[in-house]
Amino acid sequence: MSKKIIITIDGWSSCGKSTLAKQLAKKLGYVYVDSGAMYRAITLYFLRNHVDWTDKKEVNAALKEIHLDFRPNEQTSASEMYLNDENVEYVIRDLVIAEKVSDIAAIKEVRTFAVAQQQKMGTKKGVVMDGRDIGTVVFPKAELKIFMTADNAVRVERRFKEMYEKNPNVTIEEVKSNLEMRDYIDSHREVSPLKKADDALVLDNTNLTPAEQLNKALSWVKEKIKTK
Ligand code: DC
Repeated sequence: MSKKIIITIDGWSSCGKSTLAKQLAKKLGYVYVDSGAMYRAITLYFLRNHVDWTDKKEVNAALKEIHLDFRPNEQTSASEMYLNDENVEYVIRDLVIAEKVSDIAAIKEVRTFAVAQQQKMGTKKGVVMDGRDIGTVVFPKAELKIFMTADNAVRVERRFKEMYEKNPNVTIEEVKSNLEMRDYIDSHREVSPLKKADDALVLDNTNLTPAEQLNKALSWVKEKIKTK
């Protein structure tokens, strides 16, 4: 598979987008970009610095102070989110961030800031990026667009397991209501709402193992590279 393409993966929260994106990137030797991590890092900055995000001036001033980049972890070589030179990969996964990130990701100025950087990362192709608007807004001409779904109960269970490992005090109800709230805000916001691109292929992984979902996606990659 020598021709490099852009692969976008959009979908609801906790559908397994990042798992698939990492699998594909590893298999194809592509760069994986977790666009949600960027919105999470911006949220962390806003919370730490008490930015009033209802005030456009404050938002614009804060964005000028934010530098985001992904750097590989030396041990695992997985790419990790850095906010102004600080590794924030772990802290941005906290429920405190998850509770606010959808509100902040709905702000037009925040999206313009993040999307410009995401588009730059795709100039050389060979990129797998996951998020909510990657196939619709960031790379509307991407060669392969995947829209992921999974049953709600399965998604809650997956996210709960992930959160519980970090914080045994978290409850399944908390996780469920956070997912429902984020899905609602992400798909109803005015700017770049989550929706399936017309030319996206749907991958429902409710009953698929990680190996099965990778095989399905790889068959699509092969098709797209052939017809490109
Ligand atoms: O993928 P995630 O759960 O880490 O994303 C965190 C939040 O960021 C999600 O609730 C919506 C927002 N987001 C977005 O609006 N656009 C993207 N491309 C990626 C994430």
